[in-house]
Amino acid sequence: MRVTSPRLAIHDHLVELADATRCRLLGALERQELTVGELATALQLPQSTVSRHLKILADEHWIASRAEGASRWYRRHPGLDADMRALWELVRTAMGSTPAMLQDAARIDAVIAARRAGTQAFFATASAEWDALRDSMFGARADVSAALALLDDALIVGDLGCGTGALSAALSPHVAHVYAVDASPAMLSAASARLAGCHNVTLSEGTLEALPLGDASLDAAVLMLVLHHVADPVRALRDVRRVLRPNGRLLIADMRPHTQERYREQMGHVWLGFDPLELTAWLHDAGFTAVRYVPLPVDPAATGPTLFSATARCAVGSRSDSTLRTQL
Ligand SMILES: C[S@@+](CC[C@H](N)C(=O)[O-])C[C@H]1O[C@@H](n2cnc3c(N)ncnc32)[C@H](O)[C@@H]1O
Repeated sequence: MRVTSPRLAIHDHLVELADATRCRLLGALERQELTVGELATALQLPQSTVSRHLKILADEHWIASRAEGASRWYRRHPGLDADMRALWELVRTAMGSTPAMLQDAARIDAVIAARRAGTQAFFATASAEWDALRDSMFGARADVSAALALLDDALIVGDLGCGTGALSAALSPHVAHVYAVDASPAMLSAASARLAGCHNVTLSEGTLEALPLGDASLDAAVLMLVLHHVADPVRALRDVRRVLRPNGRLLIADMRPHTQERYREQMGHVWLGFDPLELTAWLHDAGFTAVRYVPLPVDPAATGPTLFSATARCAVGSRSDSTLRTQL
């Protein structure tokens, strides 16, 4: 055990910094987080020498490290105490412009440039395959799932016509609660299996025209690929407005106008897509305002009609902003 009195604490650290190699290592790790191999290259020392000195510096909390895959990354400890900082600044001032330290600095820059070149070389050849590689490594929805973290985590959201619950599962980590409603017991049963671990999702059987939710109980409602099944959209939108709080937000995602008549037979579609003028008129009729209709980017692998998103706000009082904003 170290005796700290009557000696000053600073004396304890003199021994670690009495070695020029350890000072060079600290100088390098102050500039950049590096591996043992990179330090050995930059300081032109055997890896065994570097490792031995790193251990001494780590034992005395001059440096910190973290493991990543097969590598361990070292950096100057971010929380040096006042004595250590004062001592290091003295040593750095004295040693910083010595040829050894200047050469170390130049070689560290070269090590970093080589790292960057490795990344650039990868992306120079991977650009053609990156989308497929990313999808295969992380799934096709990774970026959009992450972007949902932009949502306010206090939101209470309705996933109305939730189907098998894919959207509810994506929303659940990012909002306070999801009320998922669907008319089909079979779809709800699949949703229930998918959402078993999501404790902030409530599933209910019901229709858009008579939602099993209280007045003004939602901050936001989503109708994802469901409105084209609804015989009387204005009636359904009125009930959606009822369950939204004043100024609450509505998101409709559905198909743009298309000509696939066979979907009526095959999947029970009532509407062959929606154009912005018709949809906006319905939304105003149902008490929504500030409508925005945006065609969505086309997925080259998708075989169905192209999609749009339409957002609107629950009008407060009787005033409705009849402006339609579209991006066509
Ligand atoms: C094409 S699926 C889309 C499901 C889900 N929103 C999605 O994006 O995967 C349409 C869903 O709407 C439901 N649905 C159709 N008409 C409905 C209505 N009037 N009220 C509630 N749900 C309805 C169906 O049972 C079905 O689960």
